[in-house]
Amino acid sequence: MKTAITELFEIQHPIIQGGMHYVGFAELAAAVSNAGGLGIITGLTQRTPELLAKEIARCHDMTDKPLGVNLTFLPSFTAPPYPEYIAAIKEGGIGIVETAGRSPEQYMPALKAAGIKVIHKCTSVRHSLKAEAIGCDAVSVDGFECGGHPGEDDLPNMILLPRAADALKIPFVASGGMADARSLVAALAMGAAGMNMGTRFMATREAPIHDNVKKALVAATELDTRLVMRPIRNTERVLKNAGVDRLLEIEREKGANLKIEDIHEHVAGVYPKVMIDGDMDAGAWSCGMVVGLIHDVPTVKELIDRIMADAERLIRDRLTGFLDDGKPASRKVA
Ligand SMILES: Cc1cc2nc3c(=O)[nH]c(=O)nc-3n(C[C@H](O)[C@H](O)[C@H](O)COP(=O)(O)O)c2cc1C
Repeated sequence: MKTAITELFEIQHPIIQGGMHYVGFAELAAAVSNAGGLGIITGLTQRTPELLAKEIARCHDMTDKPLGVNLTFLPSFTAPPYPEYIAAIKEGGIGIVETAGRSPEQYMPALKAAGIKVIHKCTSVRHSLKAEAIGCDAVSVDGFECGGHPGEDDLPNMILLPRAADALKIPFVASGGMADARSLVAALAMGAAGMNMGTRFMATREAPIHDNVKKALVAATELDTRLVMRPIRNTERVLKNAGVDRLLEIEREKGANLKIEDIHEHVAGVYPKVMIDGDMDAGAWSCGMVVGLIHDVPTVKELIDRIMADAERLIRDRLTGFLDDGKPASRKVA
């Protein structure tokens, strides 16, 4: 398949693995890039720019394909040294950065001076247009279904993607709720040039996370995610667990007076407990509604090859089969 995204990032398939805290290590990013997609190392999971430089070098040892690094600009308890992270990305020979959270405007001159292509993840058309205006090369349009931070507009991708297609000049990928060939083909039909997946890539053999997490993803249904931190306008979609139940109780008790300090223990420092120790009730960790479509733990290559083969069949057989050629629809290939 050739799209504006495969051309922009010089990758074989229009599939990106979004940055994921404590999941997007070298092993997963390299596996995605080796399978023909775009693998992304999660910058801030590396506690210092020096550690990120080491992680990038480790990833280059595992693949010679294009790679990206995610830089997330979210409200955090202590602001990371972004210029030093950008220097590590540049010196590590990384040509693609996925930004997310607040606008990357302040850092665009440094990223562009380093010859880096920027794809900004946005949950609205107005933020996507802003990303286009400040010189981003592409956007990842993240619908309400997504794992992580869906913003506060609550627009699902059935509406958001066609709106983005009508408004944007730069290419975009669909993000949130993407799991298989049906997601990819639907995203392409709505104007996207590819798709970004988070949750689905966690349930792969190479994802370097505890087996309990993969089992929980396979067991969960589309009804098992919850939105936390709504009252402080930092909404996150997470997988329901005992820690999340307690967090939601506190949110209900405090109502409009909720402060981040009230829920600190249920949202800070949770990722290593879940992803490394496999403590599934430790608190809030991102997970998309797409978890209801995850039933296995394939290798990354099996997953991507399956998506691309099924997508080709969907387009060639199912979709072209609907074009009226005089034969009854009931006799056509489904
Ligand atoms: C466990 C997990 C951690 C994530 N961490 C980050 C992050 O640190 N930065 C970021 O920009 N997005 C993060 N995301 C969002 C993903 O990059 C991606 O946009 C999202 O998962 C897409 O929705 P999906 O899960 O329905 O595929 C995370 C998602 C998950 C599931």
